[in-house]
Amino acid sequence: MSTLITNLGSLVTNDPSLGTLTDAAVVIDGDRIAWVGAAAAAPQADARFDAEGRAMIPGFVDSHAHLVFAGDRTAEFNARMSGQSYTAGGIRTTVAATRAATDAELEANLTRFIGEALRQGTTTIECKSGYGLTTEDEARALRIAAAHTPETTYLGAHVVAPEFKEDPAGYVELVTGEMLDACAPHARWVDVFCEQGAFDGDQARAILTAGAKRGLIPRVHANQLHHGPGVQLAVELGAASADHCTHLTDADVDALANGETVATLLPGAEFSTRAKYPDARRLLDAGVTVALSTDCNPGSSFTSSMAFCIAVAVREMGMTPDEAVYAATAGGARALRRTDVGLVAPGARADLLLLDAPSAVHLAYRPGVPLTAAVWQDGVRKV
Ligand code: NIG
Ligand code: FE
Repeated sequence: MSTLITNLGSLVTNDPSLGTLTDAAVVIDGDRIAWVGAAAAAPQADARFDAEGRAMIPGFVDSHAHLVFAGDRTAEFNARMSGQSYTAGGIRTTVAATRAATDAELEANLTRFIGEALRQGTTTIECKSGYGLTTEDEARALRIAAAHTPETTYLGAHVVAPEFKEDPAGYVELVTGEMLDACAPHARWVDVFCEQGAFDGDQARAILTAGAKRGLIPRVHANQLHHGPGVQLAVELGAASADHCTHLTDADVDALANGETVATLLPGAEFSTRAKYPDARRLLDAGVTVALSTDCNPGSSFTSSMAFCIAVAVREMGMTPDEAVYAATAGGARALRRTDVGLVAPGARADLLLLDAPSAVHLAYRPGVPLTAAVWQDGVRKV
């Protein structure tokens, strides 16, 4: 079954040889894109969809989210908006609620957030563990997540579990031993929160190296709240992504520019913690590949909206609208080392977002306005 989507006012392909097309059309065949080009030259297909001049982009690739949890942290957010600062200590509140929840409750929450994201155009989403912090609770978070996305990340090293408050070395031993054994079969990636009060550079190195030995590819929560060794460690270990990148020295920027690690920026976190935004312009000017993601979690960034992240990145982080849309699609794909998503080209997965707007610039130009006109995922119209 093939479908011709035609009369696209603009089409962002992210394919260097195609660029952004006007008066364009796309043919979907099964779960893949079969043809992309000028509407006037489009081939026949079994079905036809008239886009009526609207703009299309690849479905958003949200490469950083924490979606297996229970409870919320409204009170903490309220306190922050009255002047308290974010410390990540609230992670333990969510750990307690998550441990107390049933599998069915966790799965219902997860599917609700994935559905919420899909309705806003997100067709690929990464999901971390990190609110269980016991072998059993981390493994069940990943088992539940793996049933809904292939992009699962073992984050047993989110913070030191409360039971190990006096014995952080013992917790690192657990995370690199028994917990890793139980989690590795359900995860593609290994992550660590490298930050004051969480894990230092040596602990992070031990955790990422142990994960890599089990076939998990590293990614790092790096330089979020303070400057630290996370970014340089990520580059040194060939991590797919260094996430947050808020506090960077010139040496960190150089390391990213000379390495293969993507800088994933998460403006929802700075927005919701009233913190300084990362400087995307500095990274882009240095030649670093930048991704934009939501960091969706109940503490620091409770948004599933990639459009919101684009708008903030353009207004506050020095990105142009085109750069921000690229970072939220192709950038996320790079951060997840995926070549089948984040672009509209023959052979790519038919993950498409049709906007209720004549161009993708409207994602930043019309902040807060729901612009989803239609979403296809794996060739199936979902919205
Ligand atoms: O990416 N920084 C660490 N982890 C999350 C916050 C988690 C939480 O506050 O619950 C983040 O911002
Ligand atoms: Fe995060």
